[in-house]
Amino acid sequence: PEFEPFCDELPSLSTLSGNEITLTAQVGQHAFHRDFPSSPALSYRSGEIGGGYLGPTVEAYSGEPIMVTFENDLTGHPLAADMDMTLHGMQADFRANPPTSLHLHGGVTSPESDGHPELLVMPGQAAMHHFSHGQEAAHLWYHDHAMGITRLNVYAGLIGNYLIRDEFDTGKLGNPLGLPAEEFEIPLILQEKIFTPTGAQNGRSTILIPEGSWEGGAVGDVGLVNGKVWPELAVARGLYRFRIVNASSASVWNLHFSNTMTFWVIGNDAGMLDAPVAINAFRCAPGERYDLLVDFTGLSEGSTVELRNDEAPPLPAAVIGEVTMPLFCRFRGDSRRGFTGGVPSQLRGGRRQRDVLAPLEQPTVIRTVTVSQQLELRNPPAQMTLNNLTFSTTDVERPRQGTVEQWNIVNTTPDPHPIHLHLVNFRILGRTPMRTLEYLIRHPQPTIGNKWTPSPDGFEAGPMISPAPWEAGMKDTVRVDGGTVTRIIVRFPTADELGFDPDAMFDRLPKAVMTGGAMTGGAMTGGAMTGGAMTGGDQAHQGNGHHGMSDPGRLQGYVWHCHLLDHEDHDMMLPYRIVP
Ligand code: C2O
Ligand code: CU
Repeated sequence: PEFEPFCDELPSLSTLSGNEITLTAQVGQHAFHRDFPSSPALSYRSGEIGGGYLGPTVEAYSGEPIMVTFENDLTGHPLAADMDMTLHGMQADFRANPPTSLHLHGGVTSPESDGHPELLVMPGQAAMHHFSHGQEAAHLWYHDHAMGITRLNVYAGLIGNYLIRDEFDTGKLGNPLGLPAEEFEIPLILQEKIFTPTGAQNGRSTILIPEGSWEGGAVGDVGLVNGKVWPELAVARGLYRFRIVNASSASVWNLHFSNTMTFWVIGNDAGMLDAPVAINAFRCAPGERYDLLVDFTGLSEGSTVELRNDEAPPLPAAVIGEVTMPLFCRFRGDSRRGFTGGVPSQLRGGRRQRDVLAPLEQPTVIRTVTVSQQLELRNPPAQMTLNNLTFSTTDVERPRQGTVEQWNIVNTTPDPHPIHLHLVNFRILGRTPMRTLEYLIRHPQPTIGNKWTPSPDGFEAGPMISPAPWEAGMKDTVRVDGGTVTRIIVRFPTADELGFDPDAMFDRLPKAVMTGGAMTGGAMTGGAMTGGAMTGGDQAHQGNGHHGMSDPGRLQGYVWHCHLLDHEDHDMMLPYRIVP
């Protein structure tokens, strides 16, 4: 549809905190633009807070655990027609009864609370999540992670910010760095979408090859910030702190301001950098977070500046060869005097005996993993995999607790894939261009299901390129560029350090009791929300097994995956274990 930019105010998402909170996934109505009628969308509601689209921002504190009761109240799905029943784990009744799984991305979380993609919370069920926050201040985000429909659940709105604070950040514990806080610190959930002619969310990208329900990547043509299309924010004269997450399905963006002004990156996925990095643009891949300082002191009253993207979407959309989604939002100067503090010169002073980020540790294990796509004509035309395996494999990576590993992530595809490991943080060593054709000829890729991880050694096509300055620091998601080997250094923590067993076995939730309507009282009380689960702390996911359960099964460990959501749903995700 035709719609004008800058009609809506940038929504400010409500914030909540507390030792025990409830998040309820529900279907609601949301108007994405002033001139659109309301249309169905998903949200996380917390009691009276939220609903409509997206979820509230949760504010938590380093070292202070909280319990989150997660409820699935979904009654159908706005994108039910886009469910692809051929994907792993899909079941015929999901259109009416969509599964969910709550994951805290970037959280140091025990496996049973981590939102494993097969730990499905069905409509009418609930589950307890114990988030222990044994990590420093950082911008995490929570989102759905249900096997096979993550892309639809997230796209439709199951996303929220999750800010961990500590005494070196802002919040109730102080503000030693003198950073913009409260109204001058704004989390921005960036997305792109396609809308139907009536202004409803379109789960399928018309830009891409229109075959099958599964997409190579749902690319959009309009930008959304905090749930509105091309909104505007009135800004005071002074410094702002923007906490950005790329919550899109598939697009890497090169973000910048329309006046090419300098701004500063002060942190990314897992915390602060050593010092602010002054830049005019930066690339941001799905799943990554960036902590920015932007100075609007010079923006006179009534003048505006736009937050824009100038990177074209990856293949196959790049066949079109143009930037399909150039604009996110606009900032308009007003007369208020804002936050007048400056950009700090150092960011990690005093932080746990280390004033700077620890140097990269020496790895004792070097592990090659692969990101590839089978070049065969089928529908969809190519299946992308990790290690040439699918999710049901038992041939999983098993790093040892307490060891430092180097993962060489070989990407033989032409496109960037953001690779995310649950639980751990890592540093990026660098990206080396590869002679991928030669690599593929020398090591022919077997049929999917056979592990394929040939060493990249000897196939380098140039020197290793260091990570961009804004990628320094601890990361949990790395953009693995096409035709490169991207090297990361990961330390796998021990159970002692974590305070929980990262290799714990735990039960799947029982399948929901479906007695007519999805939300019958019986299902609500018959699932995981009964006595033992409520009081069982970390054990809460066990359910009780007495009510209509079928094959509860056992799960173990974490997952690592591509954060292009369409890829993740299409088996570009593998379990892994961190073994004693
Ligand atoms: Cu943001 Cu496994 O996900
Ligand atoms: Cu991918």
